[in-house]
Amino acid sequence: MTRHVPGPVGSLQIAPSILSADFADLADAIEAVDAQTDRLHVDVMDGHFVPNLTIGPPVVASIRGCSERFFDCHLMMTDPGDYLEAFAKAGADGCTVHVEVGETGELIDHARALGLAVGLACNPDTPFEAVEPWLADVDLVLCMTVFPGFGGQSFMGSVLDKVALVRHAIDARALGVDLQVDGGIDPDTAPLAVAAGANVLVAGSAIFGTEDPAAAAAGIRSAAQSAR
Ligand code: DX5
Ligand code: ZN
Repeated sequence: MTRHVPGPVGSLQIAPSILSADFADLADAIEAVDAQTDRLHVDVMDGHFVPNLTIGPPVVASIRGCSERFFDCHLMMTDPGDYLEAFAKAGADGCTVHVEVGETGELIDHARALGLAVGLACNPDTPFEAVEPWLADVDLVLCMTVFPGFGGQSFMGSVLDKVALVRHAIDARALGVDLQVDGGIDPDTAPLAVAAGANVLVAGSAIFGTEDPAAAAAGIRSAAQSAR
């Protein structure tokens, strides 16, 4: 399976979340933002880890042909290990699992064995100390800036101190790890997240909830650039 590469580690990257796109028209939505974005964020919710249900491997397989971007599957699932192989076969390039579900070392090894890039996510109320032991073992840390489950929620500025701690640890140890934020990112909040140290910005409603998603993605990038 061909794997697609994201932007260089540490570079500013915009990741549209298709959760806020029209599911009846995903191909058009993805193609519309492709040139303005760096990786595609696919929100997978299992109705158990979070109180919502979304999409799974068959949809990833269906949209794989729409883009050459890195497909980044955010697994908001209690048992992501049961599905990593299916996501890899469907064309995911990376999978991000939540540290709250445990078995982190096993999940990282499992994803690596499948050839996937690996992300580790933490909820807003999960402390830095929960992800710190795994920093050298992952490609990406995702600090959720909302409680996962739904698009369109308000950005939680209280997470920025943790973002700064993760950035400091990545830089101090010279690790090749990206730092992603997800939830409530728009042209006003993107610079705050970037100033705290984030370099990968997920945005759903601020891109697909607008009349011109490509222009909205470009607007988030240019707002974020001002904080670099
Ligand atoms: C939330 C998801 C997010 C969501 C972001 O549980 O993980 O990726 O799509 O949506 P916005 O950008 O609308 O907050
Ligand atoms: Zn997400």
